[in-house]
Amino acid sequence: MAKDALVSEDLAQKFASEKETPYLRWVHGEGLDIISAHYVQNLRTVELKPWARRGGKGVYINHEASRTSNDCYVCEIAPGGKLAPQRQLFEEMILVLTGRGSTTVWNDAGQRITFEWKAGALFAIPLNAIHQHFNGSGQEPARFVAVTDGPPVMNLYEDSDFVFNTQHDFKQRFNGEPDYFSAKGEQTGFKLVTNFVPDAVNLPLITAKERGAGGGHIRFNMAKGSMNSHISQFPIGTYKKGHAHGPGAHVIILSGEGYSLMWPEGEKPRRYDWEVGTMIVPPNMWFHQHFNTGTTPARYLAFKHEVVSIRNGQGVPKAWISKRLGGDQIDYADEDPAIRAEFEAELARHNLQPKMDTAYQQELETLPPKAA
Ligand SMILES: [Fe+2]
Repeated sequence: MAKDALVSEDLAQKFASEKETPYLRWVHGEGLDIISAHYVQNLRTVELKPWARRGGKGVYINHEASRTSNDCYVCEIAPGGKLAPQRQLFEEMILVLTGRGSTTVWNDAGQRITFEWKAGALFAIPLNAIHQHFNGSGQEPARFVAVTDGPPVMNLYEDSDFVFNTQHDFKQRFNGEPDYFSAKGEQTGFKLVTNFVPDAVNLPLITAKERGAGGGHIRFNMAKGSMNSHISQFPIGTYKKGHAHGPGAHVIILSGEGYSLMWPEGEKPRRYDWEVGTMIVPPNMWFHQHFNTGTTPARYLAFKHEVVSIRNGQGVPKAWISKRLGGDQIDYADEDPAIRAEFEAELARHNLQPKMDTAYQQELETLPPKAA
């Protein structure tokens, strides 16, 4: 299951016309490239092309598995520059990668809000609100990465004039509230309902032992949208449990250093080294596992779409549930011993010791019995 499953070119050709979508034609019409890799070493330095319509530079990053759910792009605003105003009948979440600036959001009713941001800020554009981004520096470019649920909308309507030029205020999403982009938030369980996080790198988190090794976690709902996202952090000398889920998670390293393993079930794990700014896009149902080999906690942001979460009957993502119970998470007790050995060897190269004993012990206290 979930291997690359490549077939002959002859068979592939018979499906070629189904692979090409209105969404893909639209991206190419924008004059931009699509990076199809599931790993980008650094979003801060990834090469961009001029994006005439928006007035900046950009590149799309879409592993093929997420091209019908949520896409991802990086955009840069020149020093002293601004992007053209835009509205869109799809949702968008933004992480600022470098620089500082501001965004003005307004609606057809004439209500207008401006807020400032700098690297590390996280926010969402309310559905169909008109918005414009400004670089606040005359010397440095400002760069952000965004995830949108544009692909299904573009594929459904196949009419970019409709998608980008429809006059309608979704008042329940944004109604000109003066404090809309203040950093206030409401926390329920793991979820923080907010529209603006000024500093995602240092945002306090909630303990989530279910994902292993004393990790911190927080989930977001922003701009009353339907796309979810979360931040995970794990301590020095630790690694998270391996797990698998649907396509469309875009994992961005916010702090720390380390590596991830990804593999289709039954194959040898492939290793992807990371640093601040690396992006990892786990393909559909590939197992993946994140390892901290640095001298600080490691933190990442995962932009997602509901298709990522394959849930059980109680609404719990199966990526949180032990494989022993039929879930998609591998307990430490069941992982390939080579995974642990590689982690220990990598830490030794950095003169560090693993700090996993407590996590291994705690897991045993609640570990379900192995299936017969
Ligand atoms: Fe994941």
